[in-house]
Amino acid sequence: MNFIAKIASMEFFYFNTQLYVGQNNPGSQQLAAGSIDLQEWSQNLKTPYYLYDCDQISRRIEFFKKSMPFIQSQNIHFAVKANHNKKILALIQKEGLGADTVSIGEINRAIACGFAPKDIVFSGVGKSKLEIEKAIDLKIKQINIESFSELKRIISVCESKKTTLDIGIRLNPRVGADTHKSISTGGADDKFGVDLSELESVKKILKQNEKSVRLQSLSMHIGSNFLKLGEFHDAVRIIENHYNEFTKEGFDIVRLDLGGGLGIDYFNYSISKDEKLIEQYAFVVKELQERLPKVQIMLEPGRVLVARSAILVTQVQYIKKNGTTWFAVVDSGMNHLIRPALYEAHHNIWPLKIRQEDSKIYTVAGPICESTDNLATNVELRIQEGDLLGILDCGAYGMSMASAYNLHEFPVEYFFENGKISQLA
Ligand code: LLP
Repeated sequence: MNFIAKIASMEFFYFNTQLYVGQNNPGSQQLAAGSIDLQEWSQNLKTPYYLYDCDQISRRIEFFKKSMPFIQSQNIHFAVKANHNKKILALIQKEGLGADTVSIGEINRAIACGFAPKDIVFSGVGKSKLEIEKAIDLKIKQINIESFSELKRIISVCESKKTTLDIGIRLNPRVGADTHKSISTGGADDKFGVDLSELESVKKILKQNEKSVRLQSLSMHIGSNFLKLGEFHDAVRIIENHYNEFTKEGFDIVRLDLGGGLGIDYFNYSISKDEKLIEQYAFVVKELQERLPKVQIMLEPGRVLVARSAILVTQVQYIKKNGTTWFAVVDSGMNHLIRPALYEAHHNIWPLKIRQEDSKIYTVAGPICESTDNLATNVELRIQEGDLLGILDCGAYGMSMASAYNLHEFPVEYFFENGKISQLA
């Protein structure tokens, strides 16, 4: 696609021995103006900290939108759970996207960051009555129901408010994404979505309660961080078949919501490979749009838009050997980035300055009093105590999953934008 060339590649990259953020010109002897040497910039800064490359998020969103020009921007709903930072959400809203939320807290945050209620969808298996009432009062775009009981609860709330609500049904397509078992959501025994065996009862109650609820959409989300599109393709076919069935039975469905889930390869920091995968994904979505030209397609991407945009910078406090294992004990851990402990997730670790000395194989361990508090195991590093390490690809499900466990301070968040780094006031 020739538009790629027009958008500069913003990323984290090494120039000589130092890690930079900014515009990477591989092979060039010259640094692009506005690139920042992170080792130098970090002198006297407190660690740990998150650093977001806002320019990269903008570029990624532009790429995503241009790969799927047949989808209206406000129908691309950013999954707020991936990153609820106010500055990042405001930036995403300015790019014209909608928001995908799973709690009234996320809805309120999205509205505070500029998203219009008409561009907000609300999913989640456990919506409380209060959350449903508030979402209805706020007149958000759509509530995706995830069970027969939830539908009944929504109908009774609508009856008492004497209102008609636009809803979507999140189907459980019985197809889980090819990903870590803890983040696959579309399998028959996963808790998410309405079981296909319940659809007949759902249709019946919808027909009986047309004054309270209006079915506008079918939705799905088969899981997170998939890199192969086979299961997504299969689930799209399943949701399409159900759309055809519903339509035959007289339902006027105007939107299909295909969820999020497109991943990044955490082992390989490559913006161009991410972009190729987005194009392949776009092709599957485009085929559906061509088969159903009248339907508005909605998406709920989270990770793919923001994961690459941040590093977590942590300082090596101690190097020690217990038994046969070398530990680099750092000042951040599962309290600030829980993905390695929770899903055995891999994040590349790039020192801010490359040393020449011999390397060792390390477990990079956090300060938390848990044996699973490792940011990485079996990683080859050339480091000394006091060195700064960049944990890559932390822009999604990093800070949004951080906790107060052990009462360490939360990391400060910094933002790289237009060649400068700032801190949110
Ligand atoms: N839509 C729904 C209904 C979802 O449940 C999710 C994610 C998304 C969209 C966005 O998915 P994404 O495009 O980001 O894959 N904490 C885990 C990921 C959990 C995802 C939960 N649902 C992790 O760190 O890998």
